[in-house]
Amino acid sequence: MGYSYILPRKQAQQTAIFLTSLVEDMKVLVATEKPFAPIAVEGIRKEVEAAGMELALLEKYTERQQLLDAVQDADALIIRSDKVDAEVLDAAKQLKIVVRAGAGYDNVDLDAATAHHVCVMNTPGQNSNAVAELALGMMVYAVRNFYNGTSGCELMGKTLGIHAYGNVGRNVARIAKGFGMNVMAYDAFCPKDVIEKDGVKAVDSAEELYRSCQIVSLHIPATDQTRNSINYNLLKQMPKGALLVNTARKEVINEPELLQLMDERQDLKYVTDVMPACDAVMKEKYANRYFSTPKKMGAQTAEANINAGIAAARQIVDFLQNGNERFRVNK
Ligand code: 3PG
Repeated sequence: MGYSYILPRKQAQQTAIFLTSLVEDMKVLVATEKPFAPIAVEGIRKEVEAAGMELALLEKYTERQQLLDAVQDADALIIRSDKVDAEVLDAAKQLKIVVRAGAGYDNVDLDAATAHHVCVMNTPGQNSNAVAELALGMMVYAVRNFYNGTSGCELMGKTLGIHAYGNVGRNVARIAKGFGMNVMAYDAFCPKDVIEKDGVKAVDSAEELYRSCQIVSLHIPATDQTRNSINYNLLKQMPKGALLVNTARKEVINEPELLQLMDERQDLKYVTDVMPACDAVMKEKYANRYFSTPKKMGAQTAEANINAGIAAARQIVDFLQNGNERFRVNK
């Protein structure tokens, strides 16, 4: 009889029981400076405790030392925009996995995580509708002159440019079409036919997008390639009465150049869910053309918190129990 690579059923069951018992008593820490909705935390707790693990919470922390203390005995970590760097990883002696409950993972030092043998994941798509709804809400707010009682304009019939056609960009396109907008998109990595299948006109360059659209909604991640890439030369191409909406990252904007253009062009508006370093100057100089949320609100809905939080908990359990590395973002 030849050697079988398939484990006999009993042995497979014993292996599963062994792996599950390894996970038991492990600690999952949710460390969120900006907390999830309580209902999402309860969902995370159910997932974690059903796997026999313990849930620890560090919410609304204000000092970095609180995070450094809390991670010491954590086997797994769920975060949002919380910064996880080499110092946090050094303190987290037992850590095996960090899941960023959300899309962007520019807050995690991926190389340091790899050097510490820690797996990093995100939960793509789980909060994208929430961010997209906010982007459209911010558009309405801006074109209605921040609800100041003066006559504004409508979104219907306007041309919207979506810069990067990922999960959020697609949802923005879907909702914008409901408003009766003409929608265009530019994405350096997404094939044109994928964009056009959604009834969205795909353009060949960022320049073409900014030149063609009254409103541009930003959905690019913060990477070495995109930092400061939304600059004077790009923005100055936007037509008269243009509006830039940023629910992505502040780092992608070249702030001094945006300020220069806002000075030169009284018709340009900027609304953002990621407060710029120059917020005070913007507020003072362009009170009726600028708005920033005080804290990033895009993913701050019960639904997005539940989706991303529970996905993060499930990914942790599946990784620790079965070694599933789907959604891993570091090497
Ligand atoms: C994301 O990258 O998922 C969004 O920016 C949301 O971030 P938050 O979880 O910190 O609100």
